[in-house]
Amino acid sequence: MSADDLPETRVPPTDLTEAEVTERMAAVALEASTCPRCDLALTRNKVVFGAGNPHTPLVFVGEGPGENEDATGEPFVGRAGKLLDKALAANQMSRKHIYICNTVKCRPTIVEGSRVRNRPPSAGEMDACRPWLLQQLDLIRPCVIVCLGAPAANTIIHKGFKMTQERGKFFESPYAETALAAFHPAYVLRLHGDAYETAFASLVNDIAAARDKAIELKRARSERPVPASDLAPTANASDVTPEAVAEPTQLSLFEE
Ligand code: URA
Repeated sequence: MSADDLPETRVPPTDLTEAEVTERMAAVALEASTCPRCDLALTRNKVVFGAGNPHTPLVFVGEGPGENEDATGEPFVGRAGKLLDKALAANQMSRKHIYICNTVKCRPTIVEGSRVRNRPPSAGEMDACRPWLLQQLDLIRPCVIVCLGAPAANTIIHKGFKMTQERGKFFESPYAETALAAFHPAYVLRLHGDAYETAFASLVNDIAAARDKAIELKRARSERPVPASDLAPTANASDVTPEAVAEPTQLSLFEE
């Protein structure tokens, strides 16, 4: 492959070494851990900065932390996170292959009677939190971003994103070479029967497409062929149910 064959790369790979990326990410996380930029700071227990592999070409961006994430400081550790893990496993992936974070790093809540419930982040909260997300993406320089749900797609892809029409398609994004939106696992969990199976299959398929694109774009970046053994087979979504998924086996998916 010659340089002329490479796709146009709007987000060049970082010049930093992996050790430098790790170190800088930890420094940004430390700074974010005391963030006062919006009122979510007043009610949060922990800032949920992000987790996973900061050297991956594939970043997932969710909406915002829920109760379990707020308690632990880790993203996607509740029921939605467990479903996401199943969708990753159906694609021979685990959290080791991705970096995952949210549009806002603190839990948005609403008090209803005696109950504290999750709510979507407001535009102002997302704006206040954007500098943290941008620093994360700037350090990782992902090839592909998967936006989980509309709020992330509105931030990363374009405002007014329509999940029904635009989900599963690749879009230009200033933050990665390409980005697509997939159903948020929490949305899938609210469905039942066939609707649930169909939405889960879409999530699996969209992750498969993102993974394949990340392999392709990373290979183009490095100008070195990825060994065939590193290319995980594409999941056939019709064969996948949340109950019948494989354990991750391709830990070298994105390695050279
Ligand atoms: N939902 C999200 O969007 N993010 C999390 O971290 C957990 C649930």
